[in-house]
Amino acid sequence: MANLLSSAASQETLPDSFVFPEDQRPPTSTAAVELPVPPPRRGPPRRPRRRQGARILQALDKFFALPAEDKAAFYSDDKDKPNRLFSGSMYRAGERERYWRDCLRLTCAFPVDDATWNDWPDKPHRIREVVERFLMATRALGMELLRLLCEGVGLRHDYFDGELSGGAVIVTVNHYPPCPDPARTLGLPPHCDRNLITLLRQGDVPGLQVAYRGGDWIDVRPVPGAFVVNFGHQLEARLHLDHFRQIFTATRYGDRGIATNGLLKSVEHRAVPDAAARPRTSVATFIMPTGDCLVAPAEELVAAAGEGPRYRAVTFREFMEVYKAVGARREGVEKAFKT
Ligand code: OGA
Ligand code: NI
Repeated sequence: MANLLSSAASQETLPDSFVFPEDQRPPTSTAAVELPVPPPRRGPPRRPRRRQGARILQALDKFFALPAEDKAAFYSDDKDKPNRLFSGSMYRAGERERYWRDCLRLTCAFPVDDATWNDWPDKPHRIREVVERFLMATRALGMELLRLLCEGVGLRHDYFDGELSGGAVIVTVNHYPPCPDPARTLGLPPHCDRNLITLLRQGDVPGLQVAYRGGDWIDVRPVPGAFVVNFGHQLEARLHLDHFRQIFTATRYGDRGIATNGLLKSVEHRAVPDAAARPRTSVATFIMPTGDCLVAPAEELVAAAGEGPRYRAVTFREFMEVYKAVGARREGVEKAFKT
């Protein structure tokens, strides 16, 4: 049975299975941050992107509005299935808690081949084109950002090309339906992205929060037409935290403007349902290494820092296995992989 929030009748009260213990619930804090957006590059003006971005989310929204039987055809609880629709999170919740989120998860060979394409949902009309266009544009943007990061830390600009970024590309479409009691549940648990770098598009409805000092969570205000860029664990392991800090100080006052807001390590984030009970859809592209890729701190950076590597070398496949066992929290992952 397809266990989807977006297929269920709207609910007046939050079922118990979604209620989180008090210390894990969204705070009542009103702190919010607007992540800095890099200035447009000089050159001929580009076509405004805003409408295009909004169209992508609108098109993907339609998927969750399909009749229940259409969605049921794509639904699966099999975590090993590369393309599937499910409810909740891959990150394990407690015994009882469920997450207030439906997710369409698509795995893509890059560039997209026929077999991949045929494995994606074919409703609503043109969804495959929409996803492919999004994937191509965001992957290119992600690779461009990686090149700029390399320049910032003094690595050769193509350092992340090849197997470090050459794994399958995952596109996830998150849908958080209106929630009857948003203050008592979560859409996505606290986690750092496991991959190299993530480009997330959110619409006008807020819901993304990042961890802040002292265990607080702050809202990331949606910026129209902008992507939220998350640095994943693999990027952190490769680049050393201190170097991230250097990029920040080097770019904040310069004119390159990599959008990081000083949250330069792999930042813990989570999603909460909208307090005003609006539905929210977001879409993210995850760039990741190949499974066999050995991820270790860049030798050039270790040498420059004059100390040993801070992370042990593991293949991306091994990382993912250990990650599954230790859970999504930053602390556990650090313990498992830091030297
Ligand atoms: C994710 C994620 C946040 C959001 O998919 O990894 O963090 O705002 N999504 O939906
Ligand atoms: Ni995430």
